[in-house]
Amino acid sequence: MNIILFGPPGAGKGTQAEIISDELGIPQLSTGAMLRAAMKAGTELGLAAKAAIDEGSLVSDEVVIGIIRERLAESDCANGFILDGFPRTVPQAEALEKMGVRIDCVLDIAVPDEAIVERMSGRRLCSACGASYHVKYNPSADGVTCDRCGAKLIHREDDKPEVVLHRLGVYHAETEPLIGYYTNKGLLKAVDGCGAPAEVTALVREALGI
Ligand code: AP5
Repeated sequence: MNIILFGPPGAGKGTQAEIISDELGIPQLSTGAMLRAAMKAGTELGLAAKAAIDEGSLVSDEVVIGIIRERLAESDCANGFILDGFPRTVPQAEALEKMGVRIDCVLDIAVPDEAIVERMSGRRLCSACGASYHVKYNPSADGVTCDRCGAKLIHREDDKPEVVLHRLGVYHAETEPLIGYYTNKGLLKAVDGCGAPAEVTALVREALGI
């Protein structure tokens, strides 16, 4: 199954993608995680993306389309994949279509803006393995280190409230038009993302028919 997980920043795309990826045995392709890994490694791509990510703007279509084209060509995508954070603009969606990639379902995880800022300000990420936690909704056992690998948890630069507000503005202006784009193709299913993570997972499973 080829799935797009869509929604505003902090809607829970990554949280749900990880669960569904394990259940279906297909990879989670997060452009955000790929870009952050490139930043951490100090590659040319990472350096080029850093300014846009830190201020909460989008990295150029050309760059992210290139990353996804390469990633989709890898063998583990042959039996399906979950796109998490891509496409984010109409040109990115059109590029995906031009690559000949079939999409089975676009799940729109809907969460109002008011809830987003609280989610982002409480999010903590493992500095080593990237596991995601929330200080209130999904805390690690001791609150400061990762349950999986023991590394220190960090607060993303772009999760600061002023940057989150900018990211939400970018989402409404540049990404939300994709709701109409995929509705017109009969692919969009909306899922209420406001409940607890396990409740949202149940709705995601139902929408995917798994
Ligand atoms: P990216 O990393 O993709 O950020 P995002 O889309 O803004 O999504 P997030 O990862 O912030 O949130 P999420 O929806 O995955 O939520 P999560 O599950 O973590 O992109 C970062 C940047 O990279 C962009 O700003 C841009 O610069 C660049 N970029 C990436 N892709 C790009 C593209 N295609 N084009 C151009 N630029 C691109 O959950 C959030 C928090 O809430 C967590 O703490 C979690 O534990 C908690 N939580 C999750 N679900 C629930 C729930 N149901 N109830 C309560 N808390 C919950």
